[in-house]
Amino acid sequence: MDSIEQKNHDWSNYWNGRTASETGEVFGLIEVETNDDLASFWRSVFEDYPANKVIDLACGAGSVLQHVGDPNTKELIGVDISQAAIDIAVANVSGLRGIVASATNVPLASQSADLVVSQFGFEYAGKDCASEIARLLKPGGMFIAVAHMKNSAIEQECKSRLAGLVKIEDSKFVERAKVMIAQIIAFERGQSNQSREDLTPLIDDFSEAQTTLVSLAETNRIATHLYTGTKQLFERRSSYEYKDIEGWLDGMQLEVSAYRGRMESMINAALTESEALELLNTIGVDEDCHMAPFKMDSDIVGWILKAKRGAV
Ligand SMILES: C[S@@+](CC[C@H](N)C(=O)[O-])C[C@H]1O[C@@H](n2cnc3c(N)ncnc32)[C@H](O)[C@@H]1O
Repeated sequence: MDSIEQKNHDWSNYWNGRTASETGEVFGLIEVETNDDLASFWRSVFEDYPANKVIDLACGAGSVLQHVGDPNTKELIGVDISQAAIDIAVANVSGLRGIVASATNVPLASQSADLVVSQFGFEYAGKDCASEIARLLKPGGMFIAVAHMKNSAIEQECKSRLAGLVKIEDSKFVERAKVMIAQIIAFERGQSNQSREDLTPLIDDFSEAQTTLVSLAETNRIATHLYTGTKQLFERRSSYEYKDIEGWLDGMQLEVSAYRGRMESMINAALTESEALELLNTIGVDEDCHMAPFKMDSDIVGWILKAKRGAV
């Protein structure tokens, strides 16, 4: 997969997972969709900047556009790279038009939007997104975003989650569980020529990986889920075909790697002060650009970015 396809896959995997309750919960992100501070921020933005046409870049499930209360807003447009996200956004927000596209290449007319917004979103698309935002905005239109910030509480949380995921992958837990369980089942069902002693090195290998997962389990819900799920399947192996157990383990492996991809993307997307300023200056000029830290409870979680589109 090329990197755009990979990102689409990682995010679609996330948005699809939201509808599968158990997986969705274990692989959940920092809860931004239901946060009161973010909700009241966006409600006041939409009150202060009445707009005919609003575009939300990297809209996810539509958590920003759901706060548009102005009946005069004629067009609510959500853009996201993930089809799964767009499907949820369209279902969540009445009147929303969803577009599956990268935020760097939005199939909409130039100078057509009064307001372009984004919440932990546009920065995933990289620096080119600033010129696309400038292209989409009418002169005098506003860009307002809450964006990932380097060294924010969210970035630190992503880093710590990423470290846990790397340990899970490095332990080769899934690979080792598959080899061990396949051989034990074959042995127990008389389908192998191996002796019980031949299985010992496989069990030792697996135990080593298991120790890593157990050591992570207290703070890492994915490690707990993987460990307890594997344990349950192993204990009930007489009721399963090996391929069913393998299917679950392969599914978990994919989830872990997609989750790791999302954590890496978030860390890469986080903006330093100078990167954020540079982005804003592509849209507006100096006095029309403002930035400030955004707090949830008392933690700084990101940047508030605002720029007014200059004359063209
Ligand atoms: C952290 S989520 C935020 C979603 C939403 N704005 C919210 O706050 O709930 C990041 C979103 O960016 C989307 N995304 C990632 N890369 C993108 C790109 N290049 N163009 C458009 N959307 C992208 C993902 O699919 C995902 O929905």
